[in-house]
Amino acid sequence: MSQFQKEIRKIGVYTSGGDAPGMNAAIRSVVRVAIHKKLEVIGIRSGYIGMIESQMIPLQLRDMANIIQRGGTILKTGRALDFLKKEVRQKAADNLKNQGIDGLVCIGGDGSFRGAQLLWQEHQIPIVGIPGTIDNDIFGSEYTIGFDTAVNTALDAIDKIRDTADSHDRLFIVEVMGRNSGFIASYVGLAGGAEEIFTPDALTTVDKAVEHIRESQKKGKRSSIIITAEGQKPGRAYDLAEAIRKKVGLDAKVCILGHIQRGGAPTALDRVWASRMGAAAVDCLLKGQCDVMVGVENNQIIYVPLEVAIGTEKKHSQELVQLSNILAT
Ligand code: F6P
Repeated sequence: MSQFQKEIRKIGVYTSGGDAPGMNAAIRSVVRVAIHKKLEVIGIRSGYIGMIESQMIPLQLRDMANIIQRGGTILKTGRALDFLKKEVRQKAADNLKNQGIDGLVCIGGDGSFRGAQLLWQEHQIPIVGIPGTIDNDIFGSEYTIGFDTAVNTALDAIDKIRDTADSHDRLFIVEVMGRNSGFIASYVGLAGGAEEIFTPDALTTVDKAVEHIRESQKKGKRSSIIITAEGQKPGRAYDLAEAIRKKVGLDAKVCILGHIQRGGAPTALDRVWASRMGAAAVDCLLKGQCDVMVGVENNQIIYVPLEVAIGTEKKHSQELVQLSNILAT
């Protein structure tokens, strides 16, 4: 965490990277808390793209009406590879200074925070991050905005798949999102009663999975569901299905849930944390603190230096996977 001296009168807020349900609730909280504290707020459209192209709009209390329940992000988002270039960041910083922006709130994932940190280091623009990604892969916070909704969306789909799997006595392989992390897969697998869970750091193998399914069949189980994270090592869902078919001649149906997990109305949990984190981010800037991410630990708001959040890998708990294996017999 760094300290700065400048008085904060006008802040900018933006969403960056993949959208996540609850981002709107976070924007609403930042804007309304900031206005409550007599600050002006500028919304930057499409993340770093809007910063580079100076797409910035003043936000008022009423602009935040009716958005707490909406998925996506009203500010839009994007992934701006150009921001890796120093001269592009210079342009973005000039645009922010021309708008009179004294501090920024960045709602996004680790890639977004890297850009944010560079703006602070190179241009002394104070910045506070809010972890917003369905992947829940940001170190330092037990929880990221959008994760709970994504898990519940995937779970709803898996419950439906189970109906048809059971009717036809079939094996299904369901692929969930999560980039290189196994949080969505392990939560959805345990909550959905999956027989096997493949994550990028999986301890299981195709052989073990097949053996497990065979044993379950001997005990009378006729249908099974395997959950696999998109970043799993032996390959993705279709590769896994092919490997199982080659090994034991079992035909698996594949279902890739994809971007459905990124949309929809945020759950209550996502709305509550988004609201709390938005308020905490504004408070942080007003206290002259920056280069930090707002996070959650033991149900409390905490502050994590950006370099720690960015520079450390967050691992999901293998305990969930092991418990799921025991329960799905
Ligand atoms: O980071 C969120 C996420 O949905 C990942 O789970 C996934 O790997 C990635 O974004 C997909 O990104 P895009 O929408 O750009 O294809």
